[in-house]
Amino acid sequence: MSKINKKIAFIGAGNMGEAFVGALIQTGIFSPSMIYASDISEKRLDILNKTYGISVMQNNFKVFSECEIIVIAVKPQHIYQILSQISEHEGYRIPNRKIVISIAAGIPLRKIEALLYNSLDNDSIEKLPIIRVMPNTPALVLAGMSGMSANKYTKAEDLNTIKIILEAIGKVIEFQEEDLDAVTALSGSGPAYVFYIAEAMIEGGIKVGLKPDKAAMLTVATIQGALKLMEESNESPEILRRKVTSPGGTTEAAFKVLEKNRVKQNVIEAIKAATIRSKELSR
Ligand SMILES: NC(=O)c1ccc[n+]([C@@H]2O[C@H](COP(=O)([O-])OP(=O)(O)OC[C@H]3O[C@@H](n4cnc5c(N)ncnc54)[C@H](OP(=O)(O)O)[C@@H]3O)[C@@H](O)[C@H]2O)c1
Repeated sequence: MSKINKKIAFIGAGNMGEAFVGALIQTGIFSPSMIYASDISEKRLDILNKTYGISVMQNNFKVFSECEIIVIAVKPQHIYQILSQISEHEGYRIPNRKIVISIAAGIPLRKIEALLYNSLDNDSIEKLPIIRVMPNTPALVLAGMSGMSANKYTKAEDLNTIKIILEAIGKVIEFQEEDLDAVTALSGSGPAYVFYIAEAMIEGGIKVGLKPDKAAMLTVATIQGALKLMEESNESPEILRRKVTSPGGTTEAAFKVLEKNRVKQNVIEAIKAATIRSKELSR
């Protein structure tokens, strides 16, 4: 992993902020002395300072001003107030290039731009690229899948820096912003679909006589194994599924029930519903 010799700030030091900080230090991409965090929770700041040795402060404007990369990692409902406070501060200027990365779900680039660009001249705006990222919860264990979209002021070298940062918590793919609602519905909400299947498999195992702990172990290991097989083989999930399903066998008996109940069509409908909801939320 290449080392980035810039100061990075996390505004919001909660679950995601901490996942990033831990990953960036563990991978050696940033040294702790180049990482800053600001949060309203003194307790969170204390934990991050003691655990990772990073600099912490309860001052969003100060970290924004002093760092070259700013990751906004607060809940979506807090972002407007935070960005307004920063952009309305009397010392708000962009003398040098600064990359702003927002991971707040459902907050469109145009809304972040409206707040941060409002009081700036064109020269300053060009020095303040903004990137919207949709990560997912496996990022907390460094197995995330992020979709990202960058605004028009983002240069190739900025994108390179951002990808290095996002790859510390998993995989990343660049999209047009209009596709981020579909990304939200598929990979953002996606871990919940897998947990739901796991719940059903565990309950099914218990119903056919297994002890709950054994049913849970079988389910988790089976999902892990199936994922590994899917990742490592060159075959599609459909082909892999057909290979397990011999005529007249047990898997076929199971699939007759799944097909009769239109499980696949219902998952597709669920993803469409999540996409529509994401569009509504980001209006
Ligand atoms: N968790 C995930 O896996 C996941 C996945 C995809 C996207 N995201 C996005 O990531 C963002 C962060 O999520 P999270 O789970 O890390 O949330 P979180 O654990 O609640 O962390 C947010 C932190 O920001 C603090 N905060 C609130 N108001 C603030 C302010 N005015 N200034 C500075 N800090 C402030 C919160 O303090 P208090 O707790 O005291 O309010 C909290 O410590 C969200 O926008 C979410 O949509 C998260």
